[in-house]
Amino acid sequence: MTPAIAAKDLRVSYGKLDVLRGVSFDMAEGQGVVLLGANGCGKSTLMRSLNGLEKLKSGMIHVHGEELSTARGRQLRQIRRGMGYVFQQFNLVPQLNAFQNVLLGAMGRHKMGLLSCLSLTAPAHERERALHCLERVGMADRALHRPSELSGGQQQRVAIARMLMQAPRVVVADEPIASLDPKAGREVLDLLWRIVREEGLTMLCTLHHLELAQEYADRILGMKAGQIEIDAAIADTRTDQLNALYTGMTRVDAKPTEVAA
Ligand SMILES: Nc1ncnc2c1ncn2[C@@H]1O[C@H](COP(=O)(O)OP(=O)(O)O)[C@@H](O)[C@H]1O
Ligand SMILES: [Mg+2]
Repeated sequence: MTPAIAAKDLRVSYGKLDVLRGVSFDMAEGQGVVLLGANGCGKSTLMRSLNGLEKLKSGMIHVHGEELSTARGRQLRQIRRGMGYVFQQFNLVPQLNAFQNVLLGAMGRHKMGLLSCLSLTAPAHERERALHCLERVGMADRALHRPSELSGGQQQRVAIARMLMQAPRVVVADEPIASLDPKAGREVLDLLWRIVREEGLTMLCTLHHLELAQEYADRILGMKAGQIEIDAAIADTRTDQLNALYTGMTRVDAKPTEVAA
């Protein structure tokens, strides 16, 4: 079967700094993978590469068999439409209410600008769908609230509803609970994985909690200093091996002297 994501020998550099140093992995359709690694090891750069925004120095990315790394224009937009993102900082539009933010998830399907989300001219079926997505994340009763009137956990629920509205096949979640307290974080993570499983989506999700990673993921990718160190099914991962991702030369910009200190 064609993998949902096939990344081959990805290399990304910022000036002289090599951030991705030959990253390769495949993700089967429907697989839930947690990406682990210390701060500065290149996780977010890898995740940004998967939306075609990072300039690759070399390597290839295929999404459901289509080459992202060389796609342009319409084809690139089409591939991107199938990829949903969830961010640490939620990235909701502060001027719009929860319902309107969720409607934005449909923008890729229509020539619907920000204005139609405000002016109630969005197609009726999309408006119904947006409400349904808010219901799925338990936020229907907050539809008219703006982000500033919602807690962090509630804002991330709205962001998940927006992702659901987009109807992606692949979800990339970069530290989705890093801005939340443990209780809200756990609730949001439960919700995110439940929705991903119910929809049969493929997900790559970064987390900083080894126990949570082992609880939710089918498989772990572990990064250290710009390279994949661990690629293993959950049953085959050992905690000491995961802990080793956080010791020694972990950052891509580490100086050898800093490690010795
Ligand atoms: N836009 C950028 N310009 C220059 N350097 C960057 C940029 N983004 C990231 N880096 C460098 O790449 C390293 C890895 O960053 P990042 O991918 O965000 O790691 P992680 O998400 O694992 O913390 C950072 O420590 C930083 O030195
Ligand atoms: Mg990051």
